Amino acid sequence: MAERALTLSQFILQQDYSNPEASGEFTSLLMDIALAAKMINRLVIRAGLVDILGLTGDENVHGEQVQRLDVFAHETLHQILGSTGQLAVLASEEDEGVVPVPPGQRVGKYVVNFDPLDGSSNLDANVNVGTIFSILPRITRKGGGTLEDCLQPGHRQLAAGYVMYGSSTMLVYTTGDGVHGFTFEPSIGEFMLSHPSIRTPSRGHVYSANEGNERTWPEGIRRYVDWLKRDDAATRRPYNLRYIGSLVADFHRNLLYGGIFLYPGTARNPQGKLRVLYEAAPLAFIAEQAGGAASDGHRRILDLQPTSLHERTQLFLGSEEDVRECEAFLQGRHPELTTERRNHRPAARSGTRPAERRAVGATDGVARDRRAKKDRRARTGRR
Ligand code: F6P
Repeated sequence: MAERALTLSQFILQQDYSNPEASGEFTSLLMDIALAAKMINRLVIRAGLVDILGLTGDENVHGEQVQRLDVFAHETLHQILGSTGQLAVLASEEDEGVVPVPPGQRVGKYVVNFDPLDGSSNLDANVNVGTIFSILPRITRKGGGTLEDCLQPGHRQLAAGYVMYGSSTMLVYTTGDGVHGFTFEPSIGEFMLSHPSIRTPSRGHVYSANEGNERTWPEGIRRYVDWLKRDDAATRRPYNLRYIGSLVADFHRNLLYGGIFLYPGTARNPQGKLRVLYEAAPLAFIAEQAGGAASDGHRRILDLQPTSLHERTQLFLGSEEDVRECEAFLQGRHPELTTERRNHRPAARSGTRPAERRAVGATDGVARDRRAKKDRRARTGRR
């Protein structure tokens, strides 16, 4: 007999029964996030019809143009979560400071950091966008929550998840007990369990990166991606490049099929582009819970201690073997590089040099170009 279809709320309650530690408050917080997701979904899928698309004319704290749907998503999450009575404080990618619980509302013991509509620059092209959320316990004891509550390392997360809006809308989350995916059934307005206990393959054969930035990536990453393109049956190379430019969609595909998402430092964003609190930490929690890995190239993303709300990081995320290999290239200790050094062979790519060893060397491409120019000047004697 076919197994009974489970709604998100039934699934969460079932998990609660088997976990005596589970608190009803936490469960209702997850349900409120799902409610906000349904409201955002309603608008996202109608965006083309109701002429809601377009820019507000404002810039967010990162200097990016704010879409009207960004604002709607932010306000919806703020209104719903702010009035649950479960939260001490919120932080949103769209807001410069922490977002307090609205006056008059009960202050609770949880903190939610969220990116209301990630990838929204793709909205006009009808590409998948997503909401990413991270739930933490508050640290402060009294009054409204503070910045300190929001700035916690990812390993303290109680839950993390994302909603991917698109032709079929999905909610994927973890509470540290595996990763579960739910597909929205619009006719009954429910998220139905469709992907229980998601496991990501230990190695994929897809890489996802904005390769347009390649010239200013750290040298180790340039070497890694170059290596991914070479033939080798054992590691299923060459890998395929798949890049949507909408983090939730790129992450979701790689979570299911395996592979690696890379956003290294670049000349424009030497520390990386993606935000620790709203993007890297929650997706790292999900990746690890599905058997994958997440790194800034040197450290586990979940161990990063954020020092400001909108801090950015390099991000290497996905299948465990792929992430470890990428780290080894970045740190200059991959067997490919060590063999090359031992044999004193010239680097495989023209103009390359031993791989990057510093924490973030994103401007290496620029430095290399400068060095090359200087060498040329020295050779030709021209200024
Ligand atoms: O952080 C916003 C975001 O749109 C992510 O969803 C996405 O992965 C990334 O930026 C894309 O950046 P770029 O346009 O530089 O490739």
